[in-house]
Amino acid sequence: MKVDRRFVMAGAAALALPVPLRAEAATTLRAAAAARGIGFGTAIGARGFADPAYRALIERECAVVTPENAMKWPALCPGPDRWVFDDADRIVGWATRAGMAVRGHTLFWPRQDRLPGWVANYDFGTKPIAAADQMVGRHVVTVAKRYAGKVGSFDVVNEVIDPETGSYRDSVLAKASGNIARLVALAFQLAREAAPKAELAYNDYMDWGDGSARHRAGVLRLLEGLRKADIPIDALGIQAHVTAGGDAAAIARREREWRAFLDEVTGMGLKLVVTEFDVDDRDIAGPPGQRDRAVADYARAWSDVLLAYRPLTGFVTWGLSDRFSWLDGFRPRGDGQHKRGCPYDDQFRPKPMRDALVAAFGAGAAR
Ligand code: XIL
Repeated sequence: MKVDRRFVMAGAAALALPVPLRAEAATTLRAAAAARGIGFGTAIGARGFADPAYRALIERECAVVTPENAMKWPALCPGPDRWVFDDADRIVGWATRAGMAVRGHTLFWPRQDRLPGWVANYDFGTKPIAAADQMVGRHVVTVAKRYAGKVGSFDVVNEVIDPETGSYRDSVLAKASGNIARLVALAFQLAREAAPKAELAYNDYMDWGDGSARHRAGVLRLLEGLRKADIPIDALGIQAHVTAGGDAAAIARREREWRAFLDEVTGMGLKLVVTEFDVDDRDIAGPPGQRDRAVADYARAWSDVLLAYRPLTGFVTWGLSDRFSWLDGFRPRGDGQHKRGCPYDDQFRPKPMRDALVAAFGAGAAR
């Protein structure tokens, strides 16, 4: 039955019913993704976690949360024998009580500038290989054991491939171990033993952009190596900090190369997880409405490709609202404007990007 909207509005006014200014969204991101067998979620940082309205929005829209920083090595272990679990425990406790799954991010991020200060300056002594194994092993086992059964999916290793060269990144740990591949393998093996039920992912930011070819090739080599050596890995985490822009021809080319990459990854029997999706609008000019449209269209084009892959298990954005997004701090816009790369705006109002994601889930491959 088709109901005349003016009639409904007039009737509601006569009865003094509260008429919502904007129709309530018909579905949640969580439900739209779940209908395709995908866990939708977001990262949450300290500022967002302190805001009850934001937590409520996440509880409504999400099935998954990722602690944005609280589970990283420098946060959990700021000194060689100092452990601080409070922030991570609080997020995990809240998520569990609210019926949301947790992604553990991240057990091992061997980038020199992401290591705790005490590791970055560590003296590995006369037996550096054993010392590096011991240091990384202890961290992985402590964290994976503590959150086993609570974290459904771990980013075991993050960003070990140098995007410029496609080879391993350099760091004190790479030097100490002589071969960082050894530490990567060790991290996966120990994570599996400590948290046998968790999905184990390698997470990185290779993307469909032209500049990402070496990065993609390096990640493929890494994954192939892990598979050949029978190292326990279940999924590739695709960070997806994408940047809106480019004409249709450029996007079509990117899409072709990207599909070839995703085909290879899934061909190895690996699952896919979108782990940190947001859309940088630094190259988009114009008023907010125009930027929001461009961001939504780009988000749709990008996620349509991923959603065609049945092995995609999760889709997590790096923040649900622009208010807490890391994007401004990452690479500010030239005009100094606040970026608008998340599904909700600063006031927690849904933006076209939210609708674009709901529509993309609706059109995604059935499972
Ligand atoms: C970022 C956080 O969002 C920031 O708050 C922090 O200052 C730096 O790290 N890739 C990752 C994430 O794997 O951990 C990063 O998160 C964003 C890029």
